[in-house]
Amino acid sequence: MTATVPFAAFDRRFADWGDALVECVAEVAAADEFILKSRVVALESAIAAKVGARHAVACANGTGALTLILSGLGIGPGDEVVTPAFSFVSSASAVALVGARPAFADVSLDTMALEPEAARRALTARTAALLPAHLFCHTAPMAALRDLAGREGLRLVEDSAVTLGGTVDGLPTGRWGTAGVYSFFPAKPLGGCGDAGMVVTDDDALATACRALRNHGQTVRFRHDLLGFNCRMDEVTAAFLLRRLADFDRQAAARRALADRYGSRLRALGPAVVAPPAGPSGRAVYTYVIRAAERDALRAYLARRGIETAVTYPRPLHLQPAFGHLGHGPGDFPNAERLARECLALPLYPELPLETADRVADAVEDFAAAGA
Ligand SMILES: Cc1ncc(COP(=O)(O)O)c(C=O)c1O
Repeated sequence: MTATVPFAAFDRRFADWGDALVECVAEVAAADEFILKSRVVALESAIAAKVGARHAVACANGTGALTLILSGLGIGPGDEVVTPAFSFVSSASAVALVGARPAFADVSLDTMALEPEAARRALTARTAALLPAHLFCHTAPMAALRDLAGREGLRLVEDSAVTLGGTVDGLPTGRWGTAGVYSFFPAKPLGGCGDAGMVVTDDDALATACRALRNHGQTVRFRHDLLGFNCRMDEVTAAFLLRRLADFDRQAAARRALADRYGSRLRALGPAVVAPPAGPSGRAVYTYVIRAAERDALRAYLARRGIETAVTYPRPLHLQPAFGHLGHGPGDFPNAERLARECLALPLYPELPLETADRVADAVEDFAAAGA
């Protein structure tokens, strides 16, 4: 009986990190510093240096980072933000939570990201910003989106939550617009010991606003110039992330090697199974998501061969009940709906041996051959 290939394998991912985590807790307790103190500042400096940003503002999670940016830019009721109909919920919920309207636009089947021409068609007199997202191991067409934002006088906010360490055309993801974000949720390329996130920006005023907004709108203690949030990062998290950051390049390289291996095996398969395009050389790899017209059959077939997979994301955002008030229906964004029907994430994490990825690829190939 061959061993199961788990989809996430968090136990393996953090197997060698237990001692480090306990040390971080002891260190923080001994220092008597718990929230937004020296380790958070050190992590902010490290991330700012890594991606070449003037400012990095640590916060509680990636969704919070998006919310801080939108709020810090003064985007709110009466404004619209163009955002992809197929994404993780945060790229749209952050917009709605600051009181603005997510203006959904369709995505490209190849990049799985906001399609510039669709974004252009979604513009109205109320549009304040474009908010594209990079998903999986795909990258959004940032040069075209930045041109569009520049031409139309819009802010560009980059949902780069899953792409720390990646580049598009040589520029780090997160650095293309007014501001970008990173998530440090445990599954992410830089995965912490819980929730955590970061804003990166060169805009001094925005960074100042985000710093206040993450801590109840305080500028000095107990003086609230803005209505803010409790969206802070704690010191244990920052200390642990600093240690993980020292190992980050190795982990990112392992993820890239796995994506390259899957790509070299699966890209020839189409049309029954469509692998992500090779993409720009510096892309970040978070998850490996393929498309299959018979997605559910493929998933069941892989499960019978002991291979766990995940469906990300099964429902496009414009058809989520939470966005029902926007009045969309099936057919409004055909590519987003097709991706929701066809996407399947294969196991990918730095601890997955290349030989196991080959076993997964063998099974996907067998499925495609049987259907051909
Ligand atoms: C594309 C994208 N944006 C934003 C987020 C939100 O990050 P967090 O879970 O840290 O709030 C995620 C998390 O999965 C994501 O995948």
